[in-house]
Amino acid sequence: MNEPILAYLPGSPERAELQQRLAQMSSQRIHIPLVIGGERVETGTTFEAVMPHKHAHVLADVERGDASHVERAIAAAGRAHETWSRTPWHERVAVFLRAAELLSGPWRSTLNAATMLNQSKTVHQAEIDASCETIDFLRYNADYLVRIYGEQPVSSQGVWNRMEYRALEGFVLAISPFNFTAIGANLTTSPALMGNTVVWKPASTQALSAWYTMRLLEEAGLPPGVINLVFGPGAEIGAAALSSPDLAGVHFTGSTGVFQGIWRTIGSGIDRYRNYPRIVGETGGKDFILAHPSADPAEVSAAVIRGSFEYQGQKCSASSRLYIPSNLWSDVRDTLQREVSQIAMGDVRDFTNFMGAVIDGSSFRTQVEAIAEAREAGAEIVVGGGSDDSEGWFVEPTVVETDDPGFRLLRDELFGPVVTAYVYDESRWDETLDLVDTTSAYALTGAVFADDRSAIEQAHDRLRYAAGNFYVNDKPTGAVVGQQPFGGARASGTNDKAGSMWNLIRWVSPRTVKETL
Ligand code: NAD
Ligand code: ALA
Repeated sequence: MNEPILAYLPGSPERAELQQRLAQMSSQRIHIPLVIGGERVETGTTFEAVMPHKHAHVLADVERGDASHVERAIAAAGRAHETWSRTPWHERVAVFLRAAELLSGPWRSTLNAATMLNQSKTVHQAEIDASCETIDFLRYNADYLVRIYGEQPVSSQGVWNRMEYRALEGFVLAISPFNFTAIGANLTTSPALMGNTVVWKPASTQALSAWYTMRLLEEAGLPPGVINLVFGPGAEIGAAALSSPDLAGVHFTGSTGVFQGIWRTIGSGIDRYRNYPRIVGETGGKDFILAHPSADPAEVSAAVIRGSFEYQGQKCSASSRLYIPSNLWSDVRDTLQREVSQIAMGDVRDFTNFMGAVIDGSSFRTQVEAIAEAREAGAEIVVGGGSDDSEGWFVEPTVVETDDPGFRLLRDELFGPVVTAYVYDESRWDETLDLVDTTSAYALTGAVFADDRSAIEQAHDRLRYAAGNFYVNDKPTGAVVGQQPFGGARASGTNDKAGSMWNLIRWVSPRTVKETL
């Protein structure tokens, strides 16, 4: 069963506890070290972890690692590998199930508060990410492990054949993005569950939740050196880790460009590695909502509001391009103008806000420039378009309407609350399917809305490779572990489906043993 989502209603004990934790974390400025071989490591330089919705507010000073710390982390991972990779699987599972129990109970408010303050998630968005999805990853992966280990070859008279699911030889490099606390947890714990040891480089803008995730795992009994936490500049940390002959795998989630760079580095230096490194990456998206002329405009509008603007459009799954037929557009447009202009945005400690700020100044500029580009190109700003970075990096939820199906904003990822709509002639459904399929290089998520069953079948068939997670009459966000294994194809990733057996199987090096009896 998936972890139940708590509502944090006024007067509830979970709300009181979370508010108390938020107040406490907001009033202190903590120090966050690297964690290498279980030791707290200081580096001599730090960077600041801030609140995106109040960027002058510093939550933590975070140690900035460099190549020398990566070397130490790889050595610690190597030492831990000796025992961890031989630890019986049920003992490894116990650590992660214990972590799930702690997070379901006493640690919940800590990880939620860290995610709200440093990543600017509302209470609901933090709850479904830092708590529920993380817990689900931990519990479901334990079940998948048992299924994988049970998959054995056939034996015959006088012969015992077996498959040993050994950990990879070497360390796994886990690189996580800022937008989901659960992703950092899964990128590290899924290889570790299978007996691997890990060097973890989280996004600097996720430092607070990464630190508390690490501490949670330690409290659950994770031995020193199994996961080693190294903050620092991505390019420098990445280059140092990728240059090691002991690199056994990369478990990455982030932007397409960074992942392609990692792949190139590995490819061009392939003869340095003892094993071919496993490369698993979930990357960018330009996720669509496609409405058929038979769709219900109210359902489409509701999906756009939640799918495009929850967490400020910073879910990799967020809908950022819309294809709406001319017969529905005036309805959809009116609803969006009315509802989106009412969206409450601000400090996430105010639980009535639906949106917080975008993650940093760089993302803020990307959104502002995109809105300016739309205006210059003669596209219409249907709703929103404003921004203010005086206190926090706030960008209004914005809908742009273009009559150019090749417009850049329908193609490139912006990763913010700016969604672009193309209104197609209702008689051109067929051509629109091609547009959806070919306009963007990405293929992460997509949703089709239709009442007409044959249109659903057509979209299902013609958009076969346009989305790794395909939704019918639902928004394209909010995949649930165990229910919708998650991952995209094309420029969106290697599609190894986070939270599934297909992901875990990448972190083992099976050995076949034939024993003659
Ligand atoms: P990012 O690519 O900027 O950073 C991701 C991680 O890579 C960070 O830890 C960063 O420090 C590190 N990094 C940066 N440069 C590096 C380099 N040269 N070598 C090694 N590591 C490097 O991404 P982000 O802004 O943190 O996250 C947003 C991106 O992640 C979006 O593109 C989004 O679509 C994608 N994403 C995809 C999924 C998915 O499942 N497909 C899920 C979440 C996020
Ligand atoms: N798993 C997250 C979602 O589906 C990314 O929204």
